[in-house]
Amino acid sequence: MALQSAQICPQTPAIANLSGRLLAVVPSATIAITRTANELRRQGRDIIGLSQGEPDFDTPDHVKQAAKAAIDRGATKYTDVDGTPELKAAVVSKFARENGLSYSTDQISVGTGGKQVIFNALLATLNEGDEVIVPAPYWVSYPDMVRLAGGTPVTVTCGEDKAFKLTGAALRTAITPRTKWLILNSPSNPTGSGYSRADLRAIADVLLEHPHVLVLTDDMYEHIRYEGWQFVTVAQVEPLLADRVLTCNGVSKVYAMTGWRIGYAGGPAWLIKAMATIQSQSTTNPSSVSQAAAVAALNGPLDFMTERNRIFSERRDLCLAALNSIDGLSCRSPEGAFYLFPSCEGLLGRKTTNGKVINNDLDFANFLLEAANVAVVPGSAFGLAPFFRISFATSTEKLRTACKRIDQACSTLR
Ligand SMILES: Cc1ncc(COP(=O)(O)O)c(C=O)c1O
Repeated sequence: MALQSAQICPQTPAIANLSGRLLAVVPSATIAITRTANELRRQGRDIIGLSQGEPDFDTPDHVKQAAKAAIDRGATKYTDVDGTPELKAAVVSKFARENGLSYSTDQISVGTGGKQVIFNALLATLNEGDEVIVPAPYWVSYPDMVRLAGGTPVTVTCGEDKAFKLTGAALRTAITPRTKWLILNSPSNPTGSGYSRADLRAIADVLLEHPHVLVLTDDMYEHIRYEGWQFVTVAQVEPLLADRVLTCNGVSKVYAMTGWRIGYAGGPAWLIKAMATIQSQSTTNPSSVSQAAAVAALNGPLDFMTERNRIFSERRDLCLAALNSIDGLSCRSPEGAFYLFPSCEGLLGRKTTNGKVINNDLDFANFLLEAANVAVVPGSAFGLAPFFRISFATSTEKLRTACKRIDQACSTLR
């Protein structure tokens, strides 16, 4: 069973009913692969899934308790559209305490996951033909969200030689009079690369030359980081940009709260108000119970991350050592998040025992699913080939087995 791309084909009669906006969208490769892996599992295959970006840790207990208490006190009704006053206050404090950013509550938006917050911002601002600069490799959703909102994604390739990061020079050449947004993501999904203060300084200098460009920074993995790498966000590095930066974050990854669906952002009041208008006509408020849980998360301790980051870094090192010892694979060490983005360039042109040639990273991901029972995501889904993404947010035992299987499978390639 090979990985499938779009389920929709132009011959389907249903096509006439679908919007042009929808047809521009490619269904998420990560979800497609997870679905294929699940299907193989149902058929009895022992598949190890390294494709999903979700911590295997549990939501902290005090957060769960806060949600239970919210249910018991009847906090089960509609709330203000873009966040309860308590949650907005907790977000204001978080930005001040952790990032040195000063927002008032009318500069804060809370949505149903970081994904909705980003989508609201794009939908509220993009007109047909507006360009959004998306450094590649990128989180799979950015280009499609831009397309759904009527804009045009402009991808800028950021190769491994640049640690997969956008440089000031590359940004300068990508900006046009139609550029509406630049999207930044650090630490990054899929590479784990983290921007340093100097990296962001160079980007900020270019942005200062182009006052029409807004900046959306996605800091979802802020606290998942290694070896003393310092997290900084662009509004902190250059306060003069503050009135055109939307600083997005959420509780999904750091607090292991993916299912609770709470994301938030700080930015200029005019944008926050526009985002609330979009949200008010789509989903209204995020779950009242989840908002109460997020208040406890943001106002509570973060010290559990020391132990979680230690475990993540052990897993990262285990996978790095294993992958880098395989002939034909190579991988840089990430500063944060829980992803590795190895290159499979050295294996291209090799043949499987069935005589199939590995021509690209999609072939390689299919090969790993077939021959190693390991699900990974091809780099082309993130806009950069020939790489693949491994999520190490899974048990150390499973990772050890997966690496062994990948090694064995690769050793059969000729
Ligand atoms: C870079 C990045 N931003 C945003 C999100 C979305 O987070 P949420 O689950 O809060 O919608 C993800 C989730 O995978 C992500 O990787």
